[in-house]
Amino acid sequence: MAHKNPNTKNPHLLAWVSAMADLCRPDQVLWCDGSEAEYDELCGQMVASGMLTKLNPVKRPNSYLALSDANDVARVEDRTFICSEDKSAAGATNNWMDPDLMRETLNPLFRGCMAGRTMYVIPFSMGPLGSPISQIGVEISDSPYVVVNMRIMTRMGEGALRVLGDSPDFVRCVHTVGMPLAPEQKDVRWPCNKETKYIVHYPETREIWSYGSGYGGNALLGKKCFALRIASTMGRDEGWLAEHMLILGVETPKGEKHYVTAAFPSACGKTNFAMLIPPKAMSGWKISTIGDDIAWIKPGPDGRLRAINPEAGFFGVAPGTSFKTNPNAMQSARANTIFTNVALTEDGDVWWEEMTETPPARLTDWTGQEWTPDCGRKAAHPNARFTAPASQCPCIDKDWENPAGVPISAMIFGGRRPDTIPLAYQAKTWEHGVFIAATTGSETTAAATGQVGVVRRDPMAMLPFCGYNMDSYFNHWVKVGEKAGAKAPLIFGVNWFRKDAEGKYAWPGFGENARILEWIVGRIEGTASGVETPVGTMPEYKDLSWLGLESMTPEKFQQLTSLDPMKWAAEVSSSAEFFAKFDGPIPTSFAGIQQEILKGFSTDETKKETRSEVRI
Ligand code: GTP
Ligand code: SPV
Ligand code: MN
Repeated sequence: MAHKNPNTKNPHLLAWVSAMADLCRPDQVLWCDGSEAEYDELCGQMVASGMLTKLNPVKRPNSYLALSDANDVARVEDRTFICSEDKSAAGATNNWMDPDLMRETLNPLFRGCMAGRTMYVIPFSMGPLGSPISQIGVEISDSPYVVVNMRIMTRMGEGALRVLGDSPDFVRCVHTVGMPLAPEQKDVRWPCNKETKYIVHYPETREIWSYGSGYGGNALLGKKCFALRIASTMGRDEGWLAEHMLILGVETPKGEKHYVTAAFPSACGKTNFAMLIPPKAMSGWKISTIGDDIAWIKPGPDGRLRAINPEAGFFGVAPGTSFKTNPNAMQSARANTIFTNVALTEDGDVWWEEMTETPPARLTDWTGQEWTPDCGRKAAHPNARFTAPASQCPCIDKDWENPAGVPISAMIFGGRRPDTIPLAYQAKTWEHGVFIAATTGSETTAAATGQVGVVRRDPMAMLPFCGYNMDSYFNHWVKVGEKAGAKAPLIFGVNWFRKDAEGKYAWPGFGENARILEWIVGRIEGTASGVETPVGTMPEYKDLSWLGLESMTPEKFQQLTSLDPMKWAAEVSSSAEFFAKFDGPIPTSFAGIQQEILKGFSTDETKKETRSEVRI
């Protein structure tokens, strides 16, 4: 149970916690032990205060619903800062402020910020306890919602304290909802600061300071702030990679097992792909999950790159998730789960858009209002999430907690592109793969930017998460591959989101993506063929298995894989424009690769007849 007396003598930790208590002035300081009793007690307190609703224990055992403030529903990228000593170290794609100036700005905000509240000390390990790849962090937070979510998402509590011992080596994470309470002031259901939010990283001192938000990536500081932004700077210094990637295992009918990672931008299908169930026709193929959001990738003793999932749970997008699209995610969230911003059914269960074909007749929506199918509003917020223990995933890989990680044979990159980018293609070399990764992008939706049809570049799906300048990041990627040499993973690009003439998705996606995985495994094993094109090696219709998907005619496949020279010329100049933003040098090979693509298309007409014969 959370207790007043720390179960540690670590002088660095004790001094820091005491300094933070002096600054934030909470009513009390409690040290979290990570036990089930502590979790139950905190959830009980939040039910009493109205922050959580306990769900029907028959339908959704030991699970809760939280409804956030309408102002606090997602990460706040424009309020996220990388405060490196030099501006150039943050680079062109990050917000930067001088660290001294930022400390001067934050100090008055944090002074007394926890008045009327409890300050929780949350020790946690990113990665299995004691693994050489794992890292320890301690989050200080005035949100009990953060404590219970951290218990699902990380290895939290006494174990992490034990691993830390007396070491000063832990990432210091300070979080407040930014709403101190005056002596008689009544708390609100979801405290946050509506005016002021700051998500601040000091990469040199490995510190995170988060102010004003209680939501997801803003508040669960082990996730994006530590495991991506701070860890990516650690990786740069130490020769490894912290990536916004899922990790999956794929076993062939012959019993060969391979591990693959995939980077897709936020809400672009990582959770779905990490847990996908191959179509019936692919009998004998098995897919298992290591992680759905973050991968730490390090060269192993044999020179191969090995990956661990630093998290212990899934913070997955709820809307769109159903027994049809992702039964494994539904099973993972069947119990012991915290739901945020989904709708509540009359019998005390949860619902969100597309969870069932027919919506319930009446719901309480995520804003707490009565909802009916014809009311014109969404029942769940589009970024509503479930926090579920990874151990509950039916297809969790037997090695998901292996401290040595799993060896990676292929890496996949993809975004939402209605045209231009083909269904699947393979990089010719590691550097070409880094180029494909660096040019990943998604078409913007009106909701995000007000502009439709503009490609937002999201290199490696890391644009909001890279803790240092992206030009160095690209060069770091090149170096990691050079070091791995022939043992480096193969790199692929995919696009599940190409649209047909009517504007509908031309690829069925979800479980059918396993067919592309089958081709990728064939490329790893050297058994699948492909055809060389100016943009990489692509499967032809006959290179994939279509059993059970007879609707995918050669003509439809052609639409999914056609390469339009005009569109590719625009693609090359748009990526060149993006690279021009960087101050530092990008990999020298990128310009050559762009020239190769353009040259490939300029001679493409003459090549066309012979193209299918150029087997490699
Ligand atoms: P973060 O947790 O935000 O990093 O995102 P994620 O990449 O894990 O997102 P997630 O898997 O939850 O993506 C959710 C959205 O992608 C939903 O709208 C899904 O319907 C959609 N989606 C996932 N896989 C596919 C697919 O193969 N095809 C299509 N068309 N949509 C997909
Ligand atoms: C993402 O936005 O990529 C997420 C959700 O995975 S959050 O943890 O809120 O950043
Ligand atoms: Mn993510």
